[in-house]
Amino acid sequence: MSALYEQLHLPSSSFSSFSSFSSLPSSSSPAFAQDVLDGLAHRQRRIPCQWLYDHLGSLLFERITQQPEYYPARTEIAILEQVAGQVAEAAGPHATLIELGSGSARKTPIVLRALDRPAAYVPVDISETFLASTTRTIAAGFPRLKVVPCVADFTRLTSLPPELPAGRRVVFFPGSTIGNLDPAAAEALLTRIGRVVGAGALMVIGIDHTRDPARMVRAYDDAAGVTAAFNKNLLVRINRELRGDFDAEAFHHVARFDSEQRRIEMHLVSARTQRATVLGRAFDFAIGQSIHTENSYKPSPFQFLAMAHRAGWRQEQLWVEGAAGYAVHVLQSVSSPSSSSFSSL
Ligand code: TRP
Repeated sequence: MSALYEQLHLPSSSFSSFSSFSSLPSSSSPAFAQDVLDGLAHRQRRIPCQWLYDHLGSLLFERITQQPEYYPARTEIAILEQVAGQVAEAAGPHATLIELGSGSARKTPIVLRALDRPAAYVPVDISETFLASTTRTIAAGFPRLKVVPCVADFTRLTSLPPELPAGRRVVFFPGSTIGNLDPAAAEALLTRIGRVVGAGALMVIGIDHTRDPARMVRAYDDAAGVTAAFNKNLLVRINRELRGDFDAEAFHHVARFDSEQRRIEMHLVSARTQRATVLGRAFDFAIGQSIHTENSYKPSPFQFLAMAHRAGWRQEQLWVEGAAGYAVHVLQSVSSPSSSSFSSL
């Protein structure tokens, strides 16, 4: 099996303010420390959502997708099972499938099985240990496929592993993960990915267009408490990796719908007055004061396609569940690659 491909594209400036953190535990990253300390300094405290996905967070997320209230996962699987053949036809033979935030890659085999002799699979994920196990599973199920795992925060991905076969790139971005970025960041990501994969590449992207607030809130606050555990695991991770002393039990998981911004917001709400320390810095919480940990935007199909268009992607195909439910879109990149490949124009 191929070795793990390390992608470290942190700008050097993101390290500069960390000279004082010589005692960071070895498993933590300076980017995590910076995001947590910066985020807790805001009036509305917030921590970027990618830090929810350490190994345990990735396992808990996998369990969220199996909860009866969490309709996006099973809806997306049902759509993919129906349309994988059409996706494969659009992709053509010998495609390279690049998955952003591969997690457990439970949906990937649906696409891989349909593709005509896929040349390579590139799972991109922020959890190195989770990525390693997903890589083993896919490699075992598809013995002739070249699997090239890439440890990266896909929002910082600026290039692909060098050893990929030629042939059409197909980006697989399921799970409504694009909806976890705010609209400007989502557009910037689609623009950058378009430049990385170049004109003619396809993107198979799942996004939730649902409009029913009660259904949505239930999906992000399941009765079994898995989403709550997933959210609180962020505090446990801060305690372990950033010398924190949060009392995770003294925070409530809250999911609410903001109809103006069309997004579900996830918060950790302080149940009492308390103080927590992170890397030697103290943060005081009033009762009801929250840390905003996640957004899940629910744009209309039109809003989403307008954004994709501005980012250099044109619509190829679209399948929507119900009147305005979960959707899988196929887009085609019209961007020229960002690398110095003008000679091929
Ligand atoms: N992409 C998923 C979504 O927006 C992520 C997600 C589902 C999630 N449930 C969550 C993120 C709970 C944080 C907390 O649906």
